Amino acid sequence: MLKEKARIAVLVSGGGTNLQAILDAQQSGVIHSGEVVLVISNNKDAYALTRAAKAGIKGLYISKKELKSQAAFEAAVVNAMEEYEIDLIVLAGFMSILSEGFTSKYPKRIINVHPALIPSFCGKGYYGLKVHEAALEKGVKVTGATVHFVNEIPDGGEIIAQKAVEVMDGDTPEVLQRRVMEQAEWIILPQSVEKVSAELGVRSQE
Ligand code: GAR
Repeated sequence: MLKEKARIAVLVSGGGTNLQAILDAQQSGVIHSGEVVLVISNNKDAYALTRAAKAGIKGLYISKKELKSQAAFEAAVVNAMEEYEIDLIVLAGFMSILSEGFTSKYPKRIINVHPALIPSFCGKGYYGLKVHEAALEKGVKVTGATVHFVNEIPDGGEIIAQKAVEVMDGDTPEVLQRRVMEQAEWIILPQSVEKVSAELGVRSQE
């Protein structure tokens, strides 16, 4: 049975600007059907952990290196999900592919933001700046971001939201990445978190 608000865990690896967009959206009321109660990083130096601490949210660093295998890493994440009674997992700049063993435990309860218009520039090997490098190399004039449910296929789950962003002459991968974040990711990720949280609440009452 779902609690009043969906309890959300955000998985991160780096700067955490998407995490910040979610936290800001909670403050402004854009997200009101869910609440971030846990942030997990697979990188102990991730600035996202500092953002969580500043917001008074529990942050956990789980080290795949110390745990020695993907299976042990995922088991530790599952334990945390149970301990914190998590309803929804948000991958926000989480740079590691989760196995089918993990994703199949949470059907339609894991969402991810990807910095391109899926099915372009997605799947294994396409993450972070690499996505924008590939878009510029191809010469596309429009790119964007996608929020989707996570299943066993990397970037292959059902699409929840997409937003297009123009590519400009002279863009570098860094400049394009920033524009895609500002004009797409930081908007559609919080909106999607709210939409899915609200739907989880409805489903649990049926
Ligand atoms: C974001 O652009 C996000 O879409 C991307 O990494 C960046 C993380 O930034 N994620 C992926 O490429 C996952 N496949 P952030 O840490 O500032 O949110």
